[in-house]
Amino acid sequence: MTDQLIIFDTTLRDGEQSPGASMTKDEKVRIAKALERMRVDVIEAGFAIASKGDFEAVQAVAKAVKDSRICSLSRALDADIDRAGEALKMANASRIHTFIATSPIHMKMKLRMEPEQVIENAVKAVKRARRYTDDVEFSPEDAGRSETDFLCQILEAVIDAGATTLNIPDTVGYNLPHQFGSLIGTLRERIPNADKAVFSVHCHNDLGLAVANSLSAVMNGARQVECTINGLGERAGNAALEEIVMAVRTRQDMFPCDTNIDTQHILSASRLVSGVTGFVVQPNKAIVGANAFAHESGIHQDGVLKNRETYEIMRAEDVGWNTNRMVLGKHSGRNAFRSRLQELGIELESEVELNAAFTRFKELADKKHEIFDEDIQALVSDVVATTDERVSLVSMKVCSETGETPVATVTLSVDDDEVQVQMSGSGPVDAAYRAIESIVQSHTELQLYSVSNITTGTDAQGEVNVRLEKGGRIVSGQGADTDIVIASAKAYINALNKILAHVDRAHPQV
Ligand code: KIV
Ligand code: ZN
Repeated sequence: MTDQLIIFDTTLRDGEQSPGASMTKDEKVRIAKALERMRVDVIEAGFAIASKGDFEAVQAVAKAVKDSRICSLSRALDADIDRAGEALKMANASRIHTFIATSPIHMKMKLRMEPEQVIENAVKAVKRARRYTDDVEFSPEDAGRSETDFLCQILEAVIDAGATTLNIPDTVGYNLPHQFGSLIGTLRERIPNADKAVFSVHCHNDLGLAVANSLSAVMNGARQVECTINGLGERAGNAALEEIVMAVRTRQDMFPCDTNIDTQHILSASRLVSGVTGFVVQPNKAIVGANAFAHESGIHQDGVLKNRETYEIMRAEDVGWNTNRMVLGKHSGRNAFRSRLQELGIELESEVELNAAFTRFKELADKKHEIFDEDIQALVSDVVATTDERVSLVSMKVCSETGETPVATVTLSVDDDEVQVQMSGSGPVDAAYRAIESIVQSHTELQLYSVSNITTGTDAQGEVNVRLEKGGRIVSGQGADTDIVIASAKAYINALNKILAHVDRAHPQV
């Protein structure tokens, strides 16, 4: 019999820790619903004690999702565990994930604790977490650089205290596949009560080895992998869910286990996460990159046409490519729009949002002949993002002419007051951004500005991504429109709203 490989998705927690990837509560719920639809087993919804907003986001996900287990991260501290337990009250199935660092450098420099104190804190944390749920995960942070003897000692103690999953993180992405795999094998062999817990891995991608390390661990007995959509995560990211799942599914001749994932929803989840965070997927990214199944050279095409297996090891349709791509147009009605949203797994919170999305859809259909799934996803992101923002774009006029200085006239609504400003700039986007900044006075620095086309053709919507920095804090903003100057303004305003909504949040690992 094939074992089950548990998929633990941490896009909403570790993924969100990457600078500029922060998400609102509604965005987290939308992503969580997409993960549930994909049949992810465990969703780490956040770090409940980080802020009031984080607590509410974990709570909202716990309420909205019924089929996946919902988890909150907590340090090995009473207050963290209590907050996690509180946030998870409404979950159908919950898990508390508690952690403490175990490598010599982390214990000495970060925690300033002796190894015995670290064990004591870990055991206490697990016992406290068990008051809230019988599903408790423990992670020795920086296990990849910890001493094996010490890992054996602390893991044995936390299993006795009630931990049901032992997660072994390669926090800094330092390990090599054979080494990490053999660490998992050794721990399973040497810890006397190892059979009482599921071994899990959590690999970072600093050396580009997160997926390879995770798979090597699976070969050595790990039965849970922690991963994120598109490999989002701190620094170089975490192991990519889509790569882990498809490697195990495609190479069933090698793996003694398989996942429950419904792979057909992989692509839409990838697009959703990329749209919400503004982290663009590189074209040659495995599974979800635009070129992942594209055959350019004549010789490859010829082979694929004769027999697809000559150059294809997976079917594009199995991960969601090419299914019902072209959809709606100018004459499509509200019902067709609503049912396409359902097929795409998009649930809008209210009739008001649905109406706003449908109005946007009609406006877009007037400008653009064919509306693709990607257009719908972008316009829904736009509607959801603008629901309770302090600043919004009322209107904009930009004059740009050969030999003349471009001028933008921008009207914004700021806390319900309308303000209009005219500014010139080196180009139309520069003029528009100067006008917006002169109204909002954010004093942010624009770190990144990029435009890409959502679909093909000159009538396609342009999608603009920006990243702003202020006092070390980084936010991203997205905007889409058939007019790229308007898309640029929307993206800038989207990011400014995030800057204005700033609340202090605790980082779990600092
Ligand atoms: O990378 C890491 O060690 C983590 C832990 C909190 C599990 O994210
Ligand atoms: Zn991590």
